[in-house]
Amino acid sequence: MSVFITRKIPEAGLERLRAAGVAFEIGEMDGEKAIARDDVLDGVRRHDVLLSLLTERVDREVLTANPQLRGVSNMAVGLDNVDLAAAEELGIPVGNTPGVLTDATADLTWALLLAAARRVPEAHDYMAGGRYSIWGPELLCGVDVGPGASGCRKTLGIVGFGRIGVAVAQRARGFDMDVVACGSPRSRDAMTAASVEPLEFDELLERSDFVSLHCPLTPSTRHLIGVEQLLRMKRSAILINTARGPVVDERALVEALRGGEIRAAGLDVFEDEPLMAPGLVELPNVVILPHIGSATHETRDRMATMAADNAIEFLRG
Ligand code: DGY
Repeated sequence: MSVFITRKIPEAGLERLRAAGVAFEIGEMDGEKAIARDDVLDGVRRHDVLLSLLTERVDREVLTANPQLRGVSNMAVGLDNVDLAAAEELGIPVGNTPGVLTDATADLTWALLLAAARRVPEAHDYMAGGRYSIWGPELLCGVDVGPGASGCRKTLGIVGFGRIGVAVAQRARGFDMDVVACGSPRSRDAMTAASVEPLEFDELLERSDFVSLHCPLTPSTRHLIGVEQLLRMKRSAILINTARGPVVDERALVEALRGGEIRAAGLDVFEDEPLMAPGLVELPNVVILPHIGSATHETRDRMATMAADNAIEFLRG
């Protein structure tokens, strides 16, 4: 009985497997390299459980490569890289890592929101480029996140009110913001509990000063934000995406940012990762990060141990 781990995971997860007496093989030890598709298929054929990362496509071909496959443990909360319908049909259980990355991802959402509102990367580049010669009243002005000097409360619109959406809303209280949200009918109770106003999606876009995406990627959320939605948003709005890249039509976003249809964007995820839409990186009003929402040592250790625990459970039936 053994586990095939596609790419190197934190030591805490490997320790968990060793402590349980579970043998494992790691496909790609270089933390910065992808594993070849053939090596994934070969690993699945020779082991009983697959422990995958979000960078691997776990489709029907992978799931059927080994008729004895006892489970897939994905070290991520998002499962859009796994063909869940095929797994269900084949009776293969799939695990993910919910809960443990909620706070880290909510924190990073706020880091992006503040950085985009206050133009932190531009200011950093300005300093690093040796351009700071004198303080000026209009130097690198951004926008208030809280009521600030105008006394006007800002509205944060949260799209998808699951664990991370709730945690982002909690943090907004400290900034004295109005919070509105839209999500599945199941999330209505959470909105009531958090004193968040439920809105239809279009109205949320029209009313929000900041729009933050926290929905999973599914066929119905692909390109949820496109040309029409960007036009619906305030010209002063800032869009934050720490969910999944394809939720946003990235080419449409580039045009909207370029044309001033919205003020700015903060992105941790991209439509065709690790690539970015042409022109995105040249824009001054965008903050871009390499999918590091859950990237704290504590969180990644917990994700790795949870993924290892799931793999052990699958081996035990
Ligand atoms: C996830 O878990 O789905 C994140 O995107 C990476 O932590």
